[in-house]
Amino acid sequence: MSVPRPAPEGLRGRVPLLAASYAVMTREGVDGREVLLQLRQGTGFMDGWWACGAAGHVEDAGSPTEALHREVEEELGVRVEVCAPLTTVQRSTLAGPREQRADFFFHVTQWSGEPTLLEPDKAAELRWWPLAELPERVVPHERLVLEGLHSGDLPPFVEMGHDQRLVLVAALGANRAIGVDGGMPWHLPEDLKHFKALTMGGVMIMGRRTWDSIGRALPGRTTVVITSDHDWSAPGAIAVHSLAEALVVGGPGEVFIVGGGEIYRQTIELASRLELTEIDASPEAEVFFPEVDAQHWHETRRDPREGFDFVTYERNLTG
Ligand SMILES: NC(=O)c1ccc[n+]([C@@H]2O[C@H](COP(=O)([O-])OP(=O)(O)OC[C@H]3O[C@@H](n4cnc5c(N)ncnc54)[C@H](OP(=O)(O)O)[C@@H]3O)[C@@H](O)[C@H]2O)c1
Repeated sequence: MSVPRPAPEGLRGRVPLLAASYAVMTREGVDGREVLLQLRQGTGFMDGWWACGAAGHVEDAGSPTEALHREVEEELGVRVEVCAPLTTVQRSTLAGPREQRADFFFHVTQWSGEPTLLEPDKAAELRWWPLAELPERVVPHERLVLEGLHSGDLPPFVEMGHDQRLVLVAALGANRAIGVDGGMPWHLPEDLKHFKALTMGGVMIMGRRTWDSIGRALPGRTTVVITSDHDWSAPGAIAVHSLAEALVVGGPGEVFIVGGGEIYRQTIELASRLELTEIDASPEAEVFFPEVDAQHWHETRRDPREGFDFVTYERNLTG
């Protein structure tokens, strides 16, 4: 296990810990073990993603086991007969409510009755999936558990989200200009190369208008696009519908926030590092980068070029 690092800025101080129970219901299918999943809809979070057959909060100081039995009955109309604890996932996210989660996963292997979708306002479909061939979109922390169950190396305790670090990457004028007429106010091939080198192999989060300005998925990187339009899709893009969803999909380690103005504004307070191309010009623009408050940031690298500098800022540990 690696040495723990301090909590990200967004999670400092005391935050509530919410507990939930998850039913991983499996049966023997023709082609191996199958798991019952539901397709989320209308919940406002991770809609369009597959999740465990039943899950819900541990309420009123009840136990995780009680919550499991209640949720399976309420959501699927069956009674749990045989179950065993699988693992616990402790996770946090930088965005959204300041909270951490303790998720208790149970392996349910026997039940009485036929599972039926009883809460169609929360799920569009209920389906048995081969554990070896899960659908593409499974809520990430649930996927991790299901894959661990399949491979037989599921640890008893999993920590998620604590090591996520946001890196904002932007090119801006001396007046903080970043965008005009749906594009960039300049054409700087050297900066595009720098952007490619920084982000290659990583996950990039962008707003839908920035996606439109690029017009395609950039090779070698995972692209997560935030939009409020639930019908939006594009080849090579993972569409999500809130910043919180984008950060969940972004996964562990460094995640690149690549604009535009709306997305920078929502993430600068959560970021650990800024990779800025500071351009010696103040072009006319409609979209601007937010203020970089010297109280919170210090410069750690400056690489001067012809007409612009590549500059790195790290967040101050205090202040
Ligand atoms: N200089 C640079 O480094 C740089 C980098 C990137 C972009 N840019 C420029 O910046 C401009 C685009 O920036 P922008 O501020 O206009 O747009 P943007 O941030 O790229 O995208 C805004 C869109 O993202 C979606 N969105 C944002 N927050 C959301 C949330 N919390 N939940 C759901 N959806 C959300 C909405 O999409 P829907 O409308 O689909 O709901 C919104 O219209 C372009 O000119 C681009 O060229 C410059």
